[in-house]
Amino acid sequence: MGLRTLSDLHRKDLFQSKGFINDEWMGAADVDHAAEAAHTAFKSFKKTSARQRAKWLRKWYDLCIENADDLALILTLENGKTLAEAKGEVLYGASFLDWFAGEAERTHGELIPTANLNQRIITMKQPIGVAALLAPWNFPIAMITRKAGAAFAAGCTAVVKPAGETPLSCLAQAVLAKEAGFPKGCMNVVLTLNNVSEVGEALCKSKLIKKLSFTGSTRVGKLLASQCAGSLKKLSLELGGNSPFIVFDDAKIETAVEACIMAKFRNSGQTCVTANRIFVQDKIYDAFAEALTEKIKTLKVGDGREDGVFVGPMTHERAVEKAIGHINDAKSHGASVILGGEAFQPNNLKGYFLQPTVLTNMSEKALTTREEVFAPVVALYRFKTEEEVLEKTNAVDVGLGSFIITENMPRMWRVAEALEVGMVGVNIGLLSASENPFGGVKESGYGREGGRQGIDEYLQIKSIFMNVAS
Ligand code: SIN
Repeated sequence: MGLRTLSDLHRKDLFQSKGFINDEWMGAADVDHAAEAAHTAFKSFKKTSARQRAKWLRKWYDLCIENADDLALILTLENGKTLAEAKGEVLYGASFLDWFAGEAERTHGELIPTANLNQRIITMKQPIGVAALLAPWNFPIAMITRKAGAAFAAGCTAVVKPAGETPLSCLAQAVLAKEAGFPKGCMNVVLTLNNVSEVGEALCKSKLIKKLSFTGSTRVGKLLASQCAGSLKKLSLELGGNSPFIVFDDAKIETAVEACIMAKFRNSGQTCVTANRIFVQDKIYDAFAEALTEKIKTLKVGDGREDGVFVGPMTHERAVEKAIGHINDAKSHGASVILGGEAFQPNNLKGYFLQPTVLTNMSEKALTTREEVFAPVVALYRFKTEEEVLEKTNAVDVGLGSFIITENMPRMWRVAEALEVGMVGVNIGLLSASENPFGGVKESGYGREGGRQGIDEYLQIKSIFMNVAS
């Protein structure tokens, strides 16, 4: 059987290529029109019951599951990740809809005890208004549902801006959200390609938009924050990381290898929590480097639609160029390339492929110490003591994900508490689950997505202060 293409979609209507505003498909990216539609829809949507919103979210979840094969195919074709990973992302993305359906009904205010016995204070949580949701190209489904699921559960309406590289998965979600019953104007999608900065600025400056959630680079996050300052929008920013992956000498090698493959090779290394600096304790360094390299040699690289392919192409040509730059820089600082190191075309395929690469003897002076290598490149740094590795891991401006591999419980607690990050994985290479409050500290941004906390990003608190004296 040949490789699947768009003509193999069971539901052809899931493939859309125009923006979606007020339940209509439109050519131009019109932020004002989309914000107006969302603002009008908000007037009635905010009055719907949490139970009703939960029903719509569950229906949307069911539709994602029912159409998982089609959604995965669209995702693989536009992003390049393997079909197995794409299917995983569909399920991961859908899980946010299910999760926030539950949270919609569990979210409420409180009665606050007062010092003055003649008074009472109660708080209520109310939806903040229209939310602008700016999603990246590396998870074109899950980053939409993680934001929109929380926004809709809270009673907010949305203007969604998918990345210019990956609009199709988002548009398919708009089809399903409409089918699930969300009222007209709740979910609007504006598309961009060359005009991304103008559209971003218009979203930031719109007075009708009260909240902005962005996942992407720290550079763009800072720009958006400055553009939102004029209207003091509430912001959630999930920005770049530089995740340390620390293998202590008491670790089980198989656990470390398995976790490292997941943390490094998921989405061909293009995740914001990818294991960037892999610190390995002296005593275990050589054994780990060898076991990991042997495992990586078995990973098949190729077209994501082919059976058995584990590492797909990179999404951009410039991602390959940047990774090659990082490899050359590491070599100039004394690193050895013990596997890969080159761009290549497996089976003469077109596409942006990089050989899975292992670098040893990494120097602190290498660029990868400070920059994210958004690619399947493993950079192994050596360390001797816990103090030393903590000092090194915390000496960067960002703090999103991190991973520790150890069998020593007291050490696990000490290190997890000392790391300056938003999330710590212990003996695991994945931090992604709808229940997890996902987000960072320092220049990795603020706010949390998913988890019990995710819905609060779209709510504001009002207190009612009462005199109850008779
Ligand atoms: C990201 O890379 O931005 C998110 C990854 C995840 O949710 O697992």
